[in-house]
Amino acid sequence: MERRGFLRNVALGSVAVSWLGARRGPTVLAAGIDKPAVLGGTPLYKGGFTSWPQWRQDWEPAILKVFRSGRWFRGSSSGEVPQFEEAWAKLLGAKKALATASGTTALTVALHVLGVDAGDEVIVSPFTFIASYNAILACKALPVFADTDPATVTLDPATIESRITDRTKAIMPVHIYGIPCDMDAINPTARKHKLGVVEDACQAWLASYKGNKAGTLGDLGCFSFQESKHIPAGEGGAITSMREELIDRCQSYHSCGQAVGTFQGKGSFTRGMNYRMMHVQAALLLEQFDKLRQETALRQSNADRLSAGLRQIPGIAPMKLPGENTRPAWHLFPFGYDAQQFHGMPRNRFIQALGAEGIPCGGGYREQYNDGLLDEAIQSRGFQRLWSAARLKAYRDSFQELKGNQKTCANTVTLSQRVLLADPSVMDKIVAAVARIQKHSAAIAKA
Ligand SMILES: Cc1ncc(COP(=O)(O)O)c(C=O)c1O
Repeated sequence: MERRGFLRNVALGSVAVSWLGARRGPTVLAAGIDKPAVLGGTPLYKGGFTSWPQWRQDWEPAILKVFRSGRWFRGSSSGEVPQFEEAWAKLLGAKKALATASGTTALTVALHVLGVDAGDEVIVSPFTFIASYNAILACKALPVFADTDPATVTLDPATIESRITDRTKAIMPVHIYGIPCDMDAINPTARKHKLGVVEDACQAWLASYKGNKAGTLGDLGCFSFQESKHIPAGEGGAITSMREELIDRCQSYHSCGQAVGTFQGKGSFTRGMNYRMMHVQAALLLEQFDKLRQETALRQSNADRLSAGLRQIPGIAPMKLPGENTRPAWHLFPFGYDAQQFHGMPRNRFIQALGAEGIPCGGGYREQYNDGLLDEAIQSRGFQRLWSAARLKAYRDSFQELKGNQKTCANTVTLSQRVLLADPSVMDKIVAAVARIQKHSAAIAKA
């Protein structure tokens, strides 16, 4: 949107705020109205945001039906779990889907089925929820970090190839915050080195990349339906693929190694676990399809409006998206924050100031590889048997090279998906609040 067009659309009621004043010199404003809330002014937004998860009474009959049936676990080929799998695959345009107990178990199954074994290495984005690391560690494999591109907060494809060793077995791009990774730049590297691709789409329900849905872009795609997610069932997950045989393998592994589909009649042909979803979770998920579709469209249009407005403010960088027709799911709405353009105001002070305006926000993921879990893994007996001391030392030292990720962790500000479910006019108030903070950044930084 043109700057002038956007300004016309900024609806702030009686509050006369012009953030262009920050660039063109002081704007005439009614005394006091423009004072940032963190310095004692009136917050620009007082409406609050929806709570999460949400319950709808008209879902109750479907849930009660499952409980009353006395058929609670996925023991046969009928019932809500297979119904959900068929519907989820159709919704994404995938060939087949498998429901699982969680996103973490979905990732673990996917890695196992693509052949990730003890002593292997998997290249993964460092900027993710910790479960992406954990699923790799659960396979007794080493999560090797490619770097993050701060402009997209996803995996920087140019940093993958230099991490490949003779132990590398797979790449796990993470569509973090529902923002699709640049798969056209990742898949050819995987093919060249004969590596599997597991998309961590745990935050990317209905996100699309160049017109195709996340979860259909690699060999296997994994989703989470945990309570905070856009389609929650308390816990739950799914794996999707364009290759039926891979999902049949996943189904066998996730259910005690029992032969299904392509492998029917082969007895205990493979190892297995119990990572099954319950019918009641699937019933809850099936009830939410329309809600997910509608809310995804609202989040996307609100995110477009927010990006157009924020892009005009010096020091604020909305996400760069990979390719035309790429539509994130926006589990969080991140933007880059440049303190230099805010008179050196630290990011945490900016977060505090925006919070005071009635807009809850946060800083996103830390550099979690420094938290201790990887030290614990590489000091374990198992990992020390599987890798040389020199390799583990080089691995640990390599975390310091993740300059893009360091920058991303230090300079990102995030808004919750609940913010994107508000009325579109609220997006304009968010832009106005950021502009107000920008304009008064010298005073806020000093106070
Ligand atoms: C990026 C990412 N990967 C994996 C997971 C793991 O999913 P779950 O919590 O369902 O095990 C999550 C869940 O928060 C996630 O956000």
